[in-house]
Amino acid sequence: MKIRAATAVAVANCLAAQVVAAGLLDEQIPLSRPGNPKPSDRPNIIFVLTDDQDLHMDSLNYLPKIKERLIDQGTLYKRHYCTTAVCCPSRASIFTGKLAHNTNVTDLNPPYGGFPIFVKNGHNENYLPLWLQDAGYNTFYTGKMFNAHTVWNYDSPHLKGWNGSDFLLDPNTYDYWNATFQRNQNTPINHLGDYSTDVLAEKAYGFLDDAVSAKKPFFLGIAPIAPHSNVNSTVLNPVKGPDDDVPVSDDTFRVSIPRSAKRHEHLFPDAKVPRTDNFNPDVESGADWIRRQPKLTQENVEYNDRHYRGRLQALQSVDELVEGLVERLEQHGILDNTYIFYTTDNGYHIGQHRLPAGKECGYETDINVPLIIRGPGVPKGRISDSVTAHVDLAPTFLSLTGASLRADFDGTPIPLSEKEIELAPSTREHVNVEYWGWAISESNFGFNGGDDKRIYNNTYKALRVIGEDYNLYYSVWCTNEHELYEMNSDPGQLKNLLHKDEAVLAAQTTVLGYPLEKLIPRLDALLLVLKSCKGASCSQPWRSLHPHGNVVTLHDALSPRYDEFYEQQVRVEYSWCDSGYIVPAEGPQFEKDGVVYWEGSNWSDWT
Ligand SMILES: *[C@@H]1O[C@H](CO)[C@@H](O)[C@H](O)[C@H]1NC(C)=O
Ligand SMILES: *[C@@H]1O[C@H](CO)[C@@H](O)[C@H](O)[C@H]1NC(C)=O
Ligand SMILES: *[C@@H]1O[C@H](CO)[C@@H](O)[C@H](O)[C@H]1NC(C)=O
Ligand SMILES: *[C@@H]1O[C@H](CO)[C@@H](O)[C@H](O)[C@H]1NC(C)=O
Ligand SMILES: *[C@@H]1O[C@H](CO)[C@@H](O)[C@H](O)[C@H]1NC(C)=O
Ligand SMILES: *[C@@H]1O[C@H](CO)[C@@H](O)[C@H](O)[C@H]1NC(C)=O
Repeated sequence: MKIRAATAVAVANCLAAQVVAAGLLDEQIPLSRPGNPKPSDRPNIIFVLTDDQDLHMDSLNYLPKIKERLIDQGTLYKRHYCTTAVCCPSRASIFTGKLAHNTNVTDLNPPYGGFPIFVKNGHNENYLPLWLQDAGYNTFYTGKMFNAHTVWNYDSPHLKGWNGSDFLLDPNTYDYWNATFQRNQNTPINHLGDYSTDVLAEKAYGFLDDAVSAKKPFFLGIAPIAPHSNVNSTVLNPVKGPDDDVPVSDDTFRVSIPRSAKRHEHLFPDAKVPRTDNFNPDVESGADWIRRQPKLTQENVEYNDRHYRGRLQALQSVDELVEGLVERLEQHGILDNTYIFYTTDNGYHIGQHRLPAGKECGYETDINVPLIIRGPGVPKGRISDSVTAHVDLAPTFLSLTGASLRADFDGTPIPLSEKEIELAPSTREHVNVEYWGWAISESNFGFNGGDDKRIYNNTYKALRVIGEDYNLYYSVWCTNEHELYEMNSDPGQLKNLLHKDEAVLAAQTTVLGYPLEKLIPRLDALLLVLKSCKGASCSQPWRSLHPHGNVVTLHDALSPRYDEFYEQQVRVEYSWCDSGYIVPAEGPQFEKDGVVYWEGSNWSDWT
């Protein structure tokens, strides 16, 4: 029997669809949420989205009000991930529930990203606030939405789906003391001399009052820019027109240390970037351009520490904003029926792997981000190990409204109740990470020990896989370099087991007792599926390889009976480095070139 791989996949998808239809996956897609909301008492949802906040440099330890009001009263998800470590693609994924390869918003600016591409790719007609309104919710938003959302293009067209909106706009989005806000259909207003996050807090409280008086359940998004670097809009030169304006696209782009409200300027005079083993290490690490970075000078390290303090100071206004929100929810008597989600678009690094301040990397500093949830049924003071990602947020919000989930969601609802956290399905063990294009230095110091502020060919696909006895990061770069870190023993990601320098260590390393030569083909096959997955194949990728469903985790896939299958599976490989999602650049595609294992048959008959 000869079946083309594509046919086999079609059959596999069809099977998966039947399984879903038959309700066999109910444990992955809970039909009711904690408290089992009736339409009359559906919960309100508040979503606080900071900008570039880290989990790995202890930012949460400097936010006492957030600790008291959110962490102690809710659950901290310490294995929450963004899937593309830069603002706009990450935000597009949050507001659509789709991975960047499915939104095709992969950059900050056109042609591959930014607000104009979000609109061009149809998402303004089909995204979270519209679905929430369809579910009977009123929707409000204030703060930063996307990059390249500007004083020139904000009304062509307006972002849809918000009953009330007050957006921060470029080129002043990151100008802490000269922010531009744009309310509903009105013209933009500059706030020279007012502190951005304090202005935003007043707007958020105002929307909260509006939302309460409308007497319907509501969603309120609040997106301050802290602790992003400051960008003084007047030093942008030249300021460009509507389609490709934007600070970051401009090579004269200059960033500086984040600025705080006056009342916080004196805080934390001795704080320093935590000196973890991967902070300015003696030995180079990583792949491609990261590996070429020289050790940072003392002057550079001191600048980094100042930058770090600026971030902590800027976050203090967010801490106060959160306290103000919780107090007002109490006063309105709706705190017990309101979920508060607190997260950030992507993580951040300062000096780890010898990198200047920035994001855009696949390392844990950049992808593993804070997520705190408090609300009805969410355990208090709990730390959850569930592996969750930004594409899970939209499904989670929708499930709280009682609306049905969309088939094209690449994520699934986050386990919220004690029971859901406890019973989180074993399939919840992977994160698909992807990136295209460049990386920038947000420091006074550039890359390569000099002034280079921008690096190209920062294009890679990566995986996090975290199971009971494994904790792995695997990546393939557009240069076809590979990385593998065993993160229980190497949390700082300093020993790339696939680099020749680590050959001795690699030869000694096993995962669940299997040597790396058995492991790598499995990870590669998983990545092959995930890099072009859609919908259920993103949350249950092994099903694409094993349609009978008897392999649902890496542990299952490692069984020796599949050795031959995985060894012959097509490998992830780039044809060239590109700066957008250009399919021919991305080498073999699972849908076209992959093979599928049918239990009981000789799979190689079909290739
Ligand atoms: C919010 O907008 C939706 C969609 O336009 C509309 O149905 C709803 O009535 C609005 N709510 C209020 C309070 O105006
Ligand atoms: C931006 O920089 C210019 C030139 O250095 C300065 O005059 C101006 O005050 C700065 N703007 C803000 C809001 O700090
Ligand atoms: C504030 O921003 C406006 C609009 O971009 C700009 O024209 C003005 O020069 C800025 N003022 C300062 C002091 O930075
Ligand atoms: C990026 O990679 C391509 C090959 O894929 C190469 O031709 C190009 O020179 C590289 N660009 C830079 C800036 O390194
Ligand atoms: C993504 O968008 C870019 C820019 O428009 C386009 O060239 C590319 O083909 C798109 N990729 C896919 C898979 O649609
Ligand atoms: C599958 O078929 C190939 C060639 O037809 C054969 O060499 C191989 O031994 C078979 N494997 C199994 C597990 O039956």
